[in-house]
This record gives sequence, structure tokens and C-alpha cells, in this order.
Amino acid sequence: MTAQVPAPLLFTPLTLRNVSLKNRIAISPMQQYAAGPDGKVVDYHTVHYGRMAMGGAGLVFTEALCVAPEGRLTYSDLGIWHDEFVEPLARLADNIRALGAVPGAQILHAGRKASVQRPWQGYMPLSDQDREARGEAPWQTVAPSPLPANPGWPTPRELTEAEIAEIVTAHGAAARRCRQAGFEVLDIHGAHGYLIHTFLSPISNQRTDGYGGDLAGRMRLALEIAAAVRDEWPDDKPLFYRLSCIDDEPDGWTMEDSIILAQELGRLGVDVIDCSSRGLGQRTTPVTVPREQGFQVPFAEGIRRNTDLKSMTVGLIMEPEFAEGVLQDGRADLIAIGREALFNPQWPLQSSLALMGDEAYDHFWRPNDAWWLEKRARSLAAAKAAGPA
Ligand SMILES: Cc1cc2nc3c(=O)[nH]c(=O)nc-3n(C[C@H](O)[C@H](O)[C@H](O)COP(=O)(O)O)c2cc1C
Repeated sequence: MTAQVPAPLLFTPLTLRNVSLKNRIAISPMQQYAAGPDGKVVDYHTVHYGRMAMGGAGLVFTEALCVAPEGRLTYSDLGIWHDEFVEPLARLADNIRALGAVPGAQILHAGRKASVQRPWQGYMPLSDQDREARGEAPWQTVAPSPLPANPGWPTPRELTEAEIAEIVTAHGAAARRCRQAGFEVLDIHGAHGYLIHTFLSPISNQRTDGYGGDLAGRMRLALEIAAAVRDEWPDDKPLFYRLSCIDDEPDGWTMEDSIILAQELGRLGVDVIDCSSRGLGQRTTPVTVPREQGFQVPFAEGIRRNTDLKSMTVGLIMEPEFAEGVLQDGRADLIAIGREALFNPQWPLQSSLALMGDEAYDHFWRPNDAWWLEKRARSLAAAKAAGPA
């Protein structure tokens, strides 16, 4: 490594508890719908997450790992509901680490948005037609209250308090398995209309027991899960919590609620709020904010400025200069990339060139590639300087 180029903040290491990220770019959790019905890792996952790690991100999250079979969205989701999952997930985590990134996992119960088709099959609730076409029978979904996610969707069954306790335990067990598999960062999926989010929002939670009613009642499941997960997650490793910071629906969950929840989560040992928004019901929720680069940054900024926690932002981030500006302006601590990384898994490495020029080859690229690519860059520059032949 040659010396002394001031690194942009995007490429400045960040240490969370005892885990050091080489830069501030995370690959956001993204389901791949590539597992078989047993929910286990296959070669596809090794390659997919391997290419994400090789692309240069400091932190590579797996897609949502489902804490219970009935908490899956589709028959192709990855699972973590049994100890049998630990060994294949450990190989996945090791591979990400060997390729230079910190391996992170996300855990999920999909609640009333479980039992759906894969996106390209319609992303609608499974029905008898799916059973006939592919042997994929629908299953009973669960929620705080018997309210469908969308008009015409199946009505979920209201969870009993005993079942809620089992779901809390399942999240704790999932955290233990993530620890045993060697993941170094863990993200609790509490957003996008899945189970935890449906308990938080007054629109979907109309319970009258201790898990509903006022804000404290609606937050209870999220806090119990965070505590159960923290119990199983090592003190020296950071815990993230993914939050839909607003419902963007009348009488729904608000940014003020998110700040209160984040403070409570912080007291339980959550380090970073992974700030997303919306998704309680329809996937195409009518939006009050145009979906453009940075449309979710105000949520990460709100958490960062109003709590002691760190925040991660996500959402259509594509330009390295924009990502750098968000960090420089103190609006988030980490930048998560989703679809841009599917489009271009090398986005982090290419961003290092965009922000630092060819010097970045020496600092951030694998020497195996950098040695050749620097020579190539010099040849191209010389050819350009010489002008047309
Ligand atoms: C194919 C795909 C799968 C996704 N799966 C998950 C998931 O498993 N967990 C999650 O929290 N978010 C999931 N998301 C949401 C992304 O993490 C991210 O928040 C969203 O795509 C917005 O970021 P982007 O504009 O950079 O893609 C998924 C998104 C895509 C495109």
C-alpha cells in the first residue's frame, strides 16, 4: 500500500464495538429466492455473497434469515429455525470474511406478509393455484390482530401471548445460531410490514392486552425481541435494528415514535438503526415523498441527531459523491446499497476510484487486480494524451 491519500469518509474505517469495518458501505439485506424448501444455503448463495464481498463493501449482510418456517415469505427463503442451519451458514460467513468483508446476518419473521409468491410470479399471497402449479400450498399467517395486509389478502390469525413468547424465543435462538455461524453483525428486521412492524403500528395492532394499546404496549414485542437477541449476541459485536421510520399513512407510526423506540432499543444494547420506511401494507404504498436518491436520508439523520445511536441509510443511493456528502454532513454513519449492488457488485470499488482517482487502486483494490488495472489506467491515459492517431 502506498501512502498518504486522505481517504474520503466513505472509505474511512468504522469500528462498532470490537468489529472494524474497512469502509462505511454495507450491502443491504436482499432476498435472493434461491433456497430450496428446506431453507438451506446452496452454492448460489456462496457465489452471490462472495461477489458482493469482492466488490469491496466493508459489511455484507445476508438476506433475511427466517426464524420460523411460517415466518418465511416464500418457499425459497433462507432459514435459521434449526441448529442444522448453522454449519452451512458458517461456510457462507467464512467465505464473505475470506473475501475481505465483515459478514452480517439479518433475522426475520414475516408475520401477515408471509406465504407469498416469488416477486416475478406476482408477489401475491399463495393460493390453491400455486399448490396445483408448483406444489406450494399457502399457510396460515399470523399477526397482532386479524387484519389483512391488503384488501383481499388472507386474514392473519391473532397471536396468543404464549405464541408471542415462542416468537421471542425463536429470535433469541436465531441470534445464537448467527453467533455460532460466525457472523459479526446482526440486524433484526423490524420494518416493511413484517411481524415486528405490525405490532408497532397502531394501524395493524388493535390488541387490548399488554402487547397493544399505547406506544409502550405496541413497542413491547420489539423490545422483548431486542433483549432476547442481545442476550445471545456477544457484547463485543454490534447489533442493528431495521426500522420503518414512518408508515406514511394517516394515524400510523411516526418519526417521533421511531426516536422513542430507538432510545429504548439503545438502552437494550442496539447500536445502529438501519433506517428504512413504509411498507406496512401494499408494496406500492402511496408516497408523500418522491422516490429519488436519498429519499430516506432524513430518517437516518433524525435518528442520528436525536439519539445516541448510529444510523445507516438506504434507498436508491447510486452516486459516490452523494454517499460521501451524506456522511460528511453528519446525516448517517453508514451507507447501505441495495439494487445498485445487484446492478453493479463492484460499486464500492468503483466508488473508490470516483472519489480518489487511480490512487485508490493501491489502497482499496485487491493487489491481484490492482497491479494490472493501474498499468491499464496508465496506458489509457497515455493514449488519451497522445490524441487520435
Ligand atoms: C431483491 C430484493 C430483496 C430484498 N430483500 C430484503 C430483505 O431480505 N431484508 C430487508 O430488510 N430488505 C430487503 N430488501 C430491501 C433492501 O434492503 C433495500 O432497503 C431497498 O432495496 C432499498 O435500497 P436500494 O434502493 O438501494 O435498492 C430487498 C430489496 C430487493 C431489491
